[in-house]
Amino acid sequence: MKEEKPSIQNTVTDDIYYPSAEVVAQANVKDPETVRKEAANDIQAYWAKRAQELEWYKKWDTVLDESNKPFYQWFVGGKTNIVLNALDRHVKTWRRNKLALIWESEKGELRTMSYHALNREVCKFANVLKSMGISKGDRVTIYMPRIPETLIAMLATAKIGAVHSVVYGGFSVEALHGRIEDSESKVIITADGGNMNGKKIELKKIVDEALQRTGAPENVVVVKHLGIDVNMEAGRDYWYHELMALPLTRNGLRCETEVMDAEDPLFILYTSGTTGKPKAILHTHGGYQVGVYATLKDVFDLKEEDRWWCTADPGWITGHSYIVYAPLIAGATSFMYEGAPTFPYPDRWWTMIEKYGITVFYSTPTAVRGLMRFGEAWPNRHDLSSLRLLGSVGEPINPEAWRWFYKNIGKEKCPIMDTWWQTETGMFMMAPMPASPLKPGSATKPYPGIEADVVNEAGKSVAPGEEGFLVLKKPWPAMMRTIYKDPERYESTYWSKFPGMYFAGDSARKDKDGYFWIIGRVDDVIKVSGYRLGTAELESAFITHPAVAEAAVIGLPHELKGMAIHAYLILKANHEPNEALVEDLRKHIAHEMGPIAKPEKIEFVKSLPKTRSGKIMRRVLKARAQGMSEGDISTLEE
Ligand code: WTA
Repeated sequence: MKEEKPSIQNTVTDDIYYPSAEVVAQANVKDPETVRKEAANDIQAYWAKRAQELEWYKKWDTVLDESNKPFYQWFVGGKTNIVLNALDRHVKTWRRNKLALIWESEKGELRTMSYHALNREVCKFANVLKSMGISKGDRVTIYMPRIPETLIAMLATAKIGAVHSVVYGGFSVEALHGRIEDSESKVIITADGGNMNGKKIELKKIVDEALQRTGAPENVVVVKHLGIDVNMEAGRDYWYHELMALPLTRNGLRCETEVMDAEDPLFILYTSGTTGKPKAILHTHGGYQVGVYATLKDVFDLKEEDRWWCTADPGWITGHSYIVYAPLIAGATSFMYEGAPTFPYPDRWWTMIEKYGITVFYSTPTAVRGLMRFGEAWPNRHDLSSLRLLGSVGEPINPEAWRWFYKNIGKEKCPIMDTWWQTETGMFMMAPMPASPLKPGSATKPYPGIEADVVNEAGKSVAPGEEGFLVLKKPWPAMMRTIYKDPERYESTYWSKFPGMYFAGDSARKDKDGYFWIIGRVDDVIKVSGYRLGTAELESAFITHPAVAEAAVIGLPHELKGMAIHAYLILKANHEPNEALVEDLRKHIAHEMGPIAKPEKIEFVKSLPKTRSGKIMRRVLKARAQGMSEGDISTLEE
């Protein structure tokens, strides 16, 4: 079998892939260009129309309030709750019997839940949360493996008007501690552990250690998933299954959904930013539900008969928007898998596509490159003919990986929806639709109602083909509303570099046909296998190791991961640089931050390049590592 070696470069190509007549004929949106034009003429009318497809306890008075920019508000005066649209309205119809979720554990156990069953479990758990004193506005931390209870916990929190803060189950002690403390969560929902790549990840143990570092929240709820021994602290820790069996909760269905203002908070999600600690991105009920629903329905063309699989983790924005909320609002059937794509063999994903008849499959460039490495014999063993659409997110997809995905998974009949968006944007900002002509490696054009551009340092549009900063020029309903507890940072990070424009932190090119090509981050965010990590958080994790005096972290291109972490460390006196120390440091980072943060390379240095004010010049490190002369540096960033 011929092995293609991927090139990570996202080079602009002029190849165009046109959709077949069959794809266009069945597409929800047959003519994306016309919809784009109509929406651009009147974005408020466009979004009002989409909002009318959902249920509201009370209709809004104003579609968009721009009186306090950049603190935009959507559907002001409207009363709703995202759970009204994700569950309540479906259980009143035939969809109560439709599968909401099909789930397979890494070991191969199967669980399914109809909309009725999911709603019942959500109602029961909402009553559990209420009995613990959780009410509207309280924060709830959710730290879970990829199991159905993750969705139940998120939806139950939203149902009672509390605010969830999901921490990715691949994060570890310090990352979890910081996020619990900053959010001031009253309760943590976790599990004894999860399965990943044949290993048991002991989540409750990590929670215990994180709680030793913080003023403990009042309660911890623990789902028994692995059945391993865990420490249960009396009066603080409770088993999920015991709480769910209490007389007050077992009737389940008796739990009213809290009536929320459209602009009331739904969740916070921590993400790494330019400098400093991770910031909590805040999203609200009203606009977010409209944005995620409309984009999923149009871009992935969801139909009642579809079986949708988004391979992300609910702990990241992709999971929040497109595993949990949008598919449920759309009344879809989702598939979710607990474990690793290569366990026990590199065809695990292809096996499940065949077994469950998945029709729309949304994944990441890193996963595609990783699986491509094993050759096409693995997918070719399976009947993948149920698939009709593919998708990609998280990092630029290099044309080689795109073509491999298109040929070997989609069998040259499934268009690939390359979606560009962010934790902050909540929903797809740029994406084709099935009826759009595609160029491998380009996220194509903005979604209807979104105005994007590429500008230079002065904020002026650059010529076609030129590189510049990606900006968004109009607000959209699922946009973040603020950084939780730090509105000033919201303004300065996103809205002050180019007044009146949202600064995305990415560089891009726009070609002569108006197609956008994302190049990568221009700030201190590193996308490792599509996972978003920040240099500041990594550096502080390094300096908590007793041998480290100073640390600088940069991201450098990597064939599989897209970017990889390189660390430059100054050791404290009395510490010798050696292999054992490198190993110990890698373990330390995995323990504090999580295995995804393990550095590719650690170098010990005597000094670090700094500005006069003492700020580390990471771009100098980057230029040196990539063999550029420091004379080339000025063109690298900023
Ligand atoms: C990158 C993930 C190229 C980009 C949904 C962005 C992409 C960051 C794409 C946000 C794409 C996401 N092509 N790059 N299709 N999608 N990115 O917040 O750098 O985890 O700014 O949200 O991922 O990462 P986040």
